[in-house]
Amino acid sequence: MARRLDPHSEFARLLPHHLQREHTGVYDAPEAFGAFIRGGGNVELYRRASRALTRILDEHTPRTLLDVGPGDGLALLPALNDATGPAPHVDLVEPSTALLEQATDALQAQGIAHRAHNTTAEDLLTTHPDQRWDLAQSTFALQSLPPHERGPVLHALAQRTRHLSVVEFDVAHVPDPFDPHWFDSCLQRLERGLREYENERDLVGTGFILPVVLGHFATHTRTNHEHSVQDWAHDLEQAGFTHVRTHHLCDYWWEGAWLLRAQGRHTG
Ligand SMILES: C[S@@+](CC[C@H](N)C(=O)[O-])C[C@H]1O[C@@H](n2cnc3c(N)ncnc32)[C@H](O)[C@@H]1O
Repeated sequence: MARRLDPHSEFARLLPHHLQREHTGVYDAPEAFGAFIRGGGNVELYRRASRALTRILDEHTPRTLLDVGPGDGLALLPALNDATGPAPHVDLVEPSTALLEQATDALQAQGIAHRAHNTTAEDLLTTHPDQRWDLAQSTFALQSLPPHERGPVLHALAQRTRHLSVVEFDVAHVPDPFDPHWFDSCLQRLERGLREYENERDLVGTGFILPVVLGHFATHTRTNHEHSVQDWAHDLEQAGFTHVRTHHLCDYWWEGAWLLRAQGRHTG
């Protein structure tokens, strides 16, 4: 039997504020997203993600790196700073102008050569057909691609990169978000996530967590299309990547985060 919405929950308190808020995209005015990734369980999650990316940079010493959806660079920058080899030339493809500016400012401050593409991965790969990279990486951003865009993007990356590393959550398929069992589990996880924040709970809750999670119920405001780690691995193989490996990275209130590594077909 599904539990009723607890009227004393943080979710119930924040829901009216969320519904009354003017909604811009969660990455277009990214103050809430910036606070979200710098607090709660994200501190450890990002520490582990950056550490994993550093190890991959040290292993491959790429001359060229593409980061798909780097946000403000919170996972990318520490990885580049801690890597022991020479910094690669970095391409950033990020549709949020505000986040891209923060990431490029940080790269600039570190003196790391880079090019910023203020567009989507789909668009970059179509408009720059000759571009190749030694390494492509993406943390929590490939989930932004709707399923019909994901296949073509991964296929293009498989042809045009030597190596790929992806960090994503392992999210079981949600056949129906109105299913009471899923909704109940969703509410419990949401409550846990919201309570990881103290002073910034309202900002993070109404500006990021609620809009993202409630996007499951309204296709026009949906911001992500997560799926299981097995499905991610399958997608990579279908796209032409080989040697696909998966590693558990970190437990997290929403779902566990995993690192996927794969070999692309670009050998030139
Ligand atoms: C959850 S955030 C992750 C940001 C960053 N990688 C990190 O780990 O903090 C998802 C990012 O993907 C970006 N994004 C959304 N759609 C995209 C697309 N089609 N191509 C590239 N990036 C996209 C968003 O603007 C946002 O910066």
